[in-house]
Amino acid sequence: MSSPSARTATKAVIPVAGMGTRFLPATKAIPKELLPVVDRPALQYIVEEAARAGLPEVLMVTGRNKSAIEDFFDRTPELETALEKKGDQFRLAAVHAATDVAQVHFVRQGEARGLGHAVLQAAAFVGDEPFAVLLGDDIIDARDLLLEEMLAVQAEHGGAVVALLDVGADNISKYGAVAVDESTADGSAVRITGLVEKPPADQAPSTLAIIGRYVLPPEIFAALRVTEPGAGGEIQLTDALVRLVDDGVPVHGVVFSGRRYDTGDRLDYLKAVVQLAVEREDLGPQLRPWLRKFVADLPAEGASPA
Ligand code: G1P
Repeated sequence: MSSPSARTATKAVIPVAGMGTRFLPATKAIPKELLPVVDRPALQYIVEEAARAGLPEVLMVTGRNKSAIEDFFDRTPELETALEKKGDQFRLAAVHAATDVAQVHFVRQGEARGLGHAVLQAAAFVGDEPFAVLLGDDIIDARDLLLEEMLAVQAEHGGAVVALLDVGADNISKYGAVAVDESTADGSAVRITGLVEKPPADQAPSTLAIIGRYVLPPEIFAALRVTEPGAGGEIQLTDALVRLVDDGVPVHGVVFSGRRYDTGDRLDYLKAVVQLAVEREDLGPQLRPWLRKFVADLPAEGASPA
């Protein structure tokens, strides 16, 4: 049998087939993954994160109405020539950044049968190696090396590794929740003993939620093939991870304590845009004083706006 670290992950899978109903009507025509967070699509942050962590081969699992994503990661010769002629190196570099960052591949999901089903579409691309799954709703700050840490835990222990965050009892029903064995804590890694997809708060094993980063062993595909539809009638990745735990495959969690920007719903998306923009060198110096004044001038809660 090979040792856990015999193979290291080089590939990332990004499911992008979701319908984006929380952002209608914009998402009638634009995939939610391409909505700009400042000036880059949310999805570009995710691809950059994968590439930074040493995963330059990226597979997007797409669905209908997502062809704009393929266009985004394709070259645009006419645009590039026009920018070259204008001598606009800054924008030219920005355009190249989208295509140069990683080798992006696509597969269609066909039917939207859940996250587990989406990940199963990556089986041929992944082959017999561990791989990462990154969900598009969470942007992890580039200064926080979450995925790198998860890959290191996977190389050491083998099996699967998920990113965890304590979201509190009020929010746990929106996530996959885990039970952990605290006695196994090793640095930030902790052994997971059970998982439940979207449990009612009073039945959650803890308030630790899976946030959208996974490093998975290829055995997950066999588990997914026999996973029946679960929460919401969908084939859940969480349920396939339960099978791994039951089969004795190590499943670890890395508890994240860094900066995460949720772009999954409208309010969180607005917060993410503001948070990321105030830190930008090109926009922050002008945005910060404006924002301070704007906030100072805001009428108190309950008062009617001017
Ligand atoms: C999915 C997973 C869930 C996880 C969440 C993280 O749910 O099924 O276990 O906690 O992503 O964002 P979704 O948000 O697709 O409903």
